[in-house]
Amino acid sequence: MIFTVAIDGPAAAGKGTISRAVAERFGFRHLDTGLLYRAVGAKGGDPVAAAQALVPDDLVRDDLRSLAAGEAASRVAVIPEVRAALVEFQRRFARMDGGAVLDGRDIGTVICPEAEVKLFVTASPQVRAHRRWREVGGDEADVLAQVIARDARDADRATAPMVAAPDAVLLDTTEMSISAAVERAASAIRSTIEGRA
Ligand code: DC
Repeated sequence: MIFTVAIDGPAAAGKGTISRAVAERFGFRHLDTGLLYRAVGAKGGDPVAAAQALVPDDLVRDDLRSLAAGEAASRVAVIPEVRAALVEFQRRFARMDGGAVLDGRDIGTVICPEAEVKLFVTASPQVRAHRRWREVGGDEADVLAQVIARDARDADRATAPMVAAPDAVLLDTTEMSISAAVERAASAIRSTIEGRA
């Protein structure tokens, strides 16, 4: 079965947790596309060459989850040639037999506009910064400033900006628990699968 779930939205909105949970529940493969950009940013040197030479081993570095790696990722992600180098791999993953969940910023709009289910997961910057701060510590006001700066860079870039696809289901986790959001996502997927049967 070819079935793609596209999950987009800003940092720390709950995309990763929701994606992993629904992938496990439906037996779909999962790709965290932010890791691709994090790996390109972490390699250093020319980002276009780094994106063109990216190999699976680059994705298992254990420093890719830091705030600094997220910041570097957001900076290389504005470069159209970097994005272009990563498109084919993501498209192939999305349409592989067996079902796939991809989370990122442009999955439902650019990578896989034909995705069977599209979700846009968001939350207020304050709530997202608070969640991130609980993971990484430091000064919460600094974390909030970084979240706001990263949102602006991801949403305002010219190529494949972060935006909800017109046909995406909006999940605002500001006041919704992540487990409730997982249930909403799972029921959107289930009803699409049942509608196709
Ligand atoms: O989801 P994340 O925080 O790991 O993403 C890190 C950065 O990578 C994000 O700020 C912007 C970029 N990114 C992107 O431009 N497109 C994607 N599909 C995924 C991530």
